[in-house]
Amino acid sequence: MTNLPFRAHYLFPAALASVLFLGSLRIVLDNLQNSHHTCAFFRPLSGGYRVIRPPIRVSDEETIKDGCNIFEGKWVQGNGSYPLYTEESCPLLVKQVTCQKNGRPDSSYQKWKWQPDGCNLPRFNALKLLEILRDKRLMFVGDSVQRSMFDSMVCLVQSVIPEGKKSLRRDPPRKIFRAEEYNASIEFYWAPFLVESISDHATNHTVMKRLVRLDSISNHSKQWEGVDILVYESYVWWMYKPTINATFGDLEHVEEYNVTIAYKRAMETWGKWIETSINSHSQKVFFMTMSPTHLWSWEWKNGDDGNCFGESEPIQRPYWGTGSNLDIMGIVKDVLGKLRVDVRLLNITQLSEYRKDGHASVYGERKGKLLTKEQRSDPKNYADCIHWCLPGIPDTWNEILYAVLLQDYRVS
Ligand SMILES: *[C@@H]1O[C@H](CO)[C@@H](O)[C@H](O)[C@H]1NC(C)=O
Ligand SMILES: *[C@@H]1O[C@H](CO)[C@@H](O)[C@H](O)[C@H]1NC(C)=O
Ligand SMILES: *[C@@H]1O[C@H](CO)[C@@H](O)[C@H](O)[C@H]1NC(C)=O
Ligand SMILES: *[C@@H]1O[C@H](CO)[C@@H](O)[C@H](O)[C@H]1NC(C)=O
Ligand SMILES: *[C@@H]1O[C@H](CO)[C@@H](O)[C@H](O)[C@H]1NC(C)=O
Ligand SMILES: *[C@@H]1O[C@H](CO)[C@@H](O)[C@H](O)[C@H]1NC(C)=O
Ligand SMILES: *[C@@H]1O[C@H](CO)[C@@H](O)[C@H](O)[C@H]1NC(C)=O
Repeated sequence: MTNLPFRAHYLFPAALASVLFLGSLRIVLDNLQNSHHTCAFFRPLSGGYRVIRPPIRVSDEETIKDGCNIFEGKWVQGNGSYPLYTEESCPLLVKQVTCQKNGRPDSSYQKWKWQPDGCNLPRFNALKLLEILRDKRLMFVGDSVQRSMFDSMVCLVQSVIPEGKKSLRRDPPRKIFRAEEYNASIEFYWAPFLVESISDHATNHTVMKRLVRLDSISNHSKQWEGVDILVYESYVWWMYKPTINATFGDLEHVEEYNVTIAYKRAMETWGKWIETSINSHSQKVFFMTMSPTHLWSWEWKNGDDGNCFGESEPIQRPYWGTGSNLDIMGIVKDVLGKLRVDVRLLNITQLSEYRKDGHASVYGERKGKLLTKEQRSDPKNYADCIHWCLPGIPDTWNEILYAVLLQDYRVS
C-alpha cells in the first residue's frame, strides 16, 4: 500500500482525463457508419385512423415483488442467456466499447447476470419496451458514461426493428435513435455537469480546463422540456481535482470551489428546474448514481499496484471502492429527498462496484483512436478503467430501468 495516492478518492489521475472527452469527440468521429438507416424519416402515417393496440401483458414472472430492493444482490452465471446482444449484432456500437473486436482475449465479462436478493428481474423484452415508449421520447442526459447507457439501450432494442424503420442521427449535443413504427425516440444529451459549463460543446471542449456555471441550466433545460422519460447522471467530470473553478451569479466572477460544495449547488440548480418544469403525471424522471471506476487494484487485491487491466472476474464479497465518493452520494440523497417532484433513484453504484472486470481497459480508445500496440502494453498508463465494454454492465442498468418502466406500466 506504499504508493497509495494521497486522497485517492478525489483525484482521478491526469492521464485519465484524456479518456473523458472522447465521448463527445466521438459524436463527430464515428461518422455515421449507420447512415443507411437514416432514410426512413418523415414516413407518412398510413391511414387516417388510430389503431387500437392490445395492452402489453405483464406476467407474474415479470412482476417485481413489493419491497424488493433490486439494487441489492449478486452477480451469477448467466448460463448462456447473456449477453443480450453481441458486438456483431449491433452495428451501431462505436469502437470505443467493442472490446472483443479491439482484441480483448476474455469474454466472460459479458456473461454474468445481476440477481437481486429478494426477487428476479424480468427478462429484457425489446418489443415490450418499444410498446412502452410508443409516441414517447426517452432521453439520457449526462457524460460519456451515460452515453454508453444510451448506446446499450439502442443495441438492446434495435435488432427487433426492421431495416428502414429505424434511424440514428446526430444533432449535437443530442444523438437520436428513432423507431418509426412506434413513433418512439431514444436520445442522448451531452451535459457532463448537468448545469452549464465550458465543456458543453459536444465536439470541441477542453478537458483539463473546467469552468462550471453552477446556477445556469436553461441552455440545456429548454431541450429537456416535455421529454416523457428523463434519465440523468453526472459525476466523473467533477472528480478530476478536489476543487473546481466555477461561477455562481456573476459570470465574470470565477472562484475555486470545493467539489462537494460545487456539486451540491449544481444539483440544487437542477432540482429547482425539475420542480418548476416537470409534470409528474405525464413525465418520469430518474437519477443514476455514480458509475464506479476501478483505477487502483490495491483496493481489491492487497499490495497490488495495477488497475482494472487483466481483471476477468467480478468481486464476490462486500466491496466499495474509494472512487465512489460518499459525500457526493449523500448530496444526491439529500437533494432528491427534498424535491417536491418524484425523481426515482437508479442506485447502480454498488452492483457496478463488483465489476472490476467490465471496463474497456486497454481495449478501448484514447483521443478518438484505438490504442496502439505499444500503448496496450503499458496498461498502467493507458488502461481506461472508467468506461465499460459493450455488451456489458450498462446493459444491466437498462434491464433495471426496463424493469421499473414495466412495473409502472402494469399499475397504470
Ligand atoms: C445457472 O445455473 C446454476 C447452476 O445450475 C444456477 O445456480 C443458476 O441460478 C443459473 N443461473 C441462471 C441465471 O439461471
Ligand atoms: C409522436 O410522438 C410525439 C412525442 O415524442 C408526440 O408528440 C406525437 O403526438 C406523436 N405522434 C403521433 C402521430 O402520435
Ligand atoms: C447559453 O446560450 C447563450 C445563447 O446561445 C450563450 O450566449 C451563452 O454563452 C450560453 N451559456 C453558457 C454558460 O454556455
Ligand atoms: C475549438 O474551440 C477553440 C476555443 O474555443 C477554438 O479556438 C477552435 O478553433 C475550435 N476548434 C474547432 C475545430 O472548432
Ligand atoms: C482555476 O483557474 C485558475 C486561473 O485560470 C487556474 O490557475 C487554476 O489552476 C484553476 N483551478 C482548478 C482547480 O482548475
Ligand atoms: C470539501 O468539503 C468536504 C465536505 O464539507 C470536506 O470533507 C473536504 O475536506 C473539503 N475538501 C477540501 C479540499 O477542502
Ligand atoms: C445507494 O446504495 C448504497 C448502498 O448500496 C447506499 O450506501 C447509498 O446511500 C445509496 N444512495 C442513495 C442516494 O440512496
